[in-house]
Amino acid sequence: MSSTGTPLREDVVARTIAAHGGRRDRLLEILREVQVHTHWLARPVLARIAAGVGLTPAIVEGVASFYRFLHLAPVGRMHLLWSDSVTDRFQGSRALARELCRRLGVEPGPPSPDGLVSVGFTSCIGLPDQGPALLVNHHQVLTRMDRERVAQLADLVRAQVPPARWPAGWQRIDDNVQRADRLLGTPHLQGSALRATLARGAAATLAEIEASGLRGRGGAGFATGDKWRLARSAPLPEGGTRFVVCNADEGEPGTFKDRVLLARRAHTMVEGMTVAARVLGARQGFVYLRGEYRWMLESLQAVLARRRAARLLGARILEVTGFDFDIEIRLGAGAYVCGEESALIESLEGKRGVPRIRPPYPAVRGYHGQPTVVNNVETFCAAALVADRGADWWRALGTGPSSGTKLHSVSGDVERPGVYEFPFGVSVREILDAAGVGRPGRRVQAVQVGGPSGVCLAAGEFDRRIAFEDVPTSGGFTVFDDTRDMFEAARGYAQFFAHESCGFCTPCRVGTELIVRRMDKLAAGYGSGFDASDLRELEALLHGATHCGLGASAANPLRDTLARFPAAYRRRLVQPRFVPGFDLDAELEPARRVTGRDDAAAHLERLG
Ligand SMILES: Cc1cc2nc3c(=O)[nH]c(=O)nc-3n(C[C@H](O)[C@H](O)[C@H](O)COP(=O)(O)O)c2cc1C
Ligand code: SF4
Repeated sequence: MSSTGTPLREDVVARTIAAHGGRRDRLLEILREVQVHTHWLARPVLARIAAGVGLTPAIVEGVASFYRFLHLAPVGRMHLLWSDSVTDRFQGSRALARELCRRLGVEPGPPSPDGLVSVGFTSCIGLPDQGPALLVNHHQVLTRMDRERVAQLADLVRAQVPPARWPAGWQRIDDNVQRADRLLGTPHLQGSALRATLARGAAATLAEIEASGLRGRGGAGFATGDKWRLARSAPLPEGGTRFVVCNADEGEPGTFKDRVLLARRAHTMVEGMTVAARVLGARQGFVYLRGEYRWMLESLQAVLARRRAARLLGARILEVTGFDFDIEIRLGAGAYVCGEESALIESLEGKRGVPRIRPPYPAVRGYHGQPTVVNNVETFCAAALVADRGADWWRALGTGPSSGTKLHSVSGDVERPGVYEFPFGVSVREILDAAGVGRPGRRVQAVQVGGPSGVCLAAGEFDRRIAFEDVPTSGGFTVFDDTRDMFEAARGYAQFFAHESCGFCTPCRVGTELIVRRMDKLAAGYGSGFDASDLRELEALLHGATHCGLGASAANPLRDTLARFPAAYRRRLVQPRFVPGFDLDAELEPARRVTGRDDAAAHLERLG
């Protein structure tokens, strides 16, 4: 036993470190896999791991403390995490979580005194189309929770029934494909794109990708062909190699289209990565899968195994000498910022996921300083189809600057939540019509396109078109009907960004927190005109002064809702003059106790 009373599990630690060859860049895997057995990572465990990989305990603790799915304080042997997205909340998740805590006799956070269970919250787990949802021990998911299920869940947990014996329907996950086109409508590719690539040659395949006009689906919309060409021509250090990385970190709240592609078109995605490898001459690839999608790991590994067996992956692909490429799946651990490509690479190297200074861009200096192409799941699927069917087939849909189709994760107040694939150029209204307005007699007042980092559109703007040249999107499409409070939606998103800021730069670390505090103050009824102008200043600060895209977009929901739904703020500016957001007189109580004073002069309100 360690000094903290947690079993050190020397055997587990030694075995895990050995399984990863004692490699520092596997630190995240080692920490995660050890924690499966120890439930949390006590100092002696961290020290033992540090010794095993040749790092200082401080560095290992620094890495572990970065990731929310790694625990440096005890959690229950059954650790239940409610997905806490805005849509989960609107579906009643907070009340259900309170009810679960009441039935289990715990507060959110610390474990029950017997160490059996803990209940907490985490950012959107990618299931808003079938929420409220929760994660069990970071491994299983429960969907469509309601009061009845919560009551049963509390009983099962208390009776220590293992999750494998809980009602099967609770873990049902539907793909909810509502509209398929190029990507979801084409059967998954099992070698045809690779054969086409080999027949055409690497240079001509790259030219085909460029001619298709394909742009990245992860958010920034960078031209895929340009990125691949940059990595292909980047100088290689002595003995170096190039890498292909698939960004499956899908952490943008309300976004789940990659979840569906991973479930339905994993072969196509891997084929796209293998095409990229051929173009680049890369031998190694990674899929960085968000920790919240841990439940998909085995099925994805099975896809890789099947492709190796079919000679579509591994050594001598399709019997071609020198065409060697394999893929490893690496899991994230609950840090949204790791979706940013340079933070993702840091994480792949076993470090804290702090975004790098760019340039150099990953295509030039990425994983371990080598040229690395990072693309979104959907981008690789599209690239495989372009390699297979050609640029013209792809360009036949979409608009000039935005070719092909795009997947949208539609959730919130709609009749048919799920994934909708439409050609670029579709209007917001057309997607709404396809999904149906959620509740009878209600009207849609807003759509959050592209998640909280994107843009919030009001009813007068629903004829705008989804395309890089009008409304770009990374795939989120969250619908709010006129019963929803858009101030509360923006406050939920503000809390998300404050929670997920990596803390590296001050404007983001402090600014996101100040926005939350100001909005909490408005919500509590202490808002004045002063607070509104303060919020505007914070919004301007965040847009101009942060190190990565998280900070730069963190105030988007505030900006958009202030501009489009001013009434939601105005009715909270009830104070005629500035009121502090906290009780200063109460804060001085400890000082009064220490000094033994309680006279009028020691109280602020009695002074005034
Ligand atoms: C905070 C933050 C989170 C991001 N999360 C993701 C993500 O989950 N998936 C993704 O593909 N791109 C994400 N991106 C964008 C990536 O940095 C990068 O642009 C993308 O993976 C490139 O792939 P693409 O060219 O195929 O779009 C994120 C960016 C930021 C700033
Ligand atoms: S902007 Fe925020 S998330 Fe990005 S590096 Fe700075 S602190 Fe980290």
